[in-house]
Amino acid sequence: MLVQSKPYRTIWPHADNREVVQIIDQRLLPHEFIIVDLHTVADFAMAIKDMYVRGAGLIGATAGFGMYAAALHSRDDHFDRDMQGFANTLVATRPTAKNLVWAVERQLMALKDIPSSAAKREKAFEVACEIADEDARFCKQIGGHGVEIIREISRRKNGAPVNILTHCNAGWLAFVDYGSATAPIYEAQAQGIDVHVWVDETRPWLQGARLTTWELKEQGVPHTLIADNTGGHLMQHGMVDLVLVGTDRTTYCGDVANKIGTYLKALAAFDNNVPFYVALPSSTFDWQICDGVDGIPIEERSGAEVTMVSGLSDSGLATVAISPEHTQAANYSFDVTPARLVTGLITERGITKADRESILALYPEKR
Ligand code: MRU
Repeated sequence: MLVQSKPYRTIWPHADNREVVQIIDQRLLPHEFIIVDLHTVADFAMAIKDMYVRGAGLIGATAGFGMYAAALHSRDDHFDRDMQGFANTLVATRPTAKNLVWAVERQLMALKDIPSSAAKREKAFEVACEIADEDARFCKQIGGHGVEIIREISRRKNGAPVNILTHCNAGWLAFVDYGSATAPIYEAQAQGIDVHVWVDETRPWLQGARLTTWELKEQGVPHTLIADNTGGHLMQHGMVDLVLVGTDRTTYCGDVANKIGTYLKALAAFDNNVPFYVALPSSTFDWQICDGVDGIPIEERSGAEVTMVSGLSDSGLATVAISPEHTQAANYSFDVTPARLVTGLITERGITKADRESILALYPEKR
């Protein structure tokens, strides 16, 4: 997507040296646009864990390139053992996004039967690029399917702006390009459908306030930033036509893990008859787990992300305390919205109900 009118992806091999991979440091957005070089598996692991990169699709793509770095640094005589060690390092970085383990396993499977280390390294690069390209393509396809929902609402409103509420950042910064929840919005804009987006700030990391607003501004999509607790009020007053969010892991029975606070938006949407859609590429499905509340691992991050806030001050970027010193803080990073609250899932293959039979009908090979 565009940054000051120039197209970017969120991750790409360096133009002069493909052994170096470049990313946008999302910790500094929207105030600074800095590109960072990744060389070693430790660099990739740090970038994922410390959230230089974040969002399910981009975590997966970064892990895909991380496994290429792993192949470059695995010794010829201990190749498979070294690769497995590097794979474990990457998988341990963040527990909730399914795309992470999915990408690592895809690399290990692809390299398994290749005889020489040189050929394995070549293949690892190919697969990393494939994962990134596929992520971008699937998000584009999600846009093509999801726009039909927005068009139908616009038709019912005689062309008045469709008000969409989104939580966190499931935009292009959370993927390689386009985004999942934002792809239908960008497609609607391209087709001349009027949209307006309510952006939840998304405490504590503020993905909405910092990233989704920046993305929408760069693309020229009308939007309004709201405090996290505002959505229910807006829905009661008919000011939200559609809730559209992403997901970090969705079970094959339709339970959806997404950024903390999503469940409360789903409850409010259900109570007010507002459609609640979740957009995801198939790499985010967990084909092993049915009950998401019970089965999906929920990341707990440092309490300091809750007690401190970072932003731009007159003298540059600053971090300040917002609670008394030594306040104990809990930081559950995700919650699970049960399938019964989800109107539908928008995937690269089309839109489906959030239940086992419908999901498996769309992905029959997973039966
Ligand atoms: O902690 P993050 O920023 O990696 O969380 C991911 C998210 O941005 C959201 O949960 C998002 O809605 C789903 S990721 C496509």
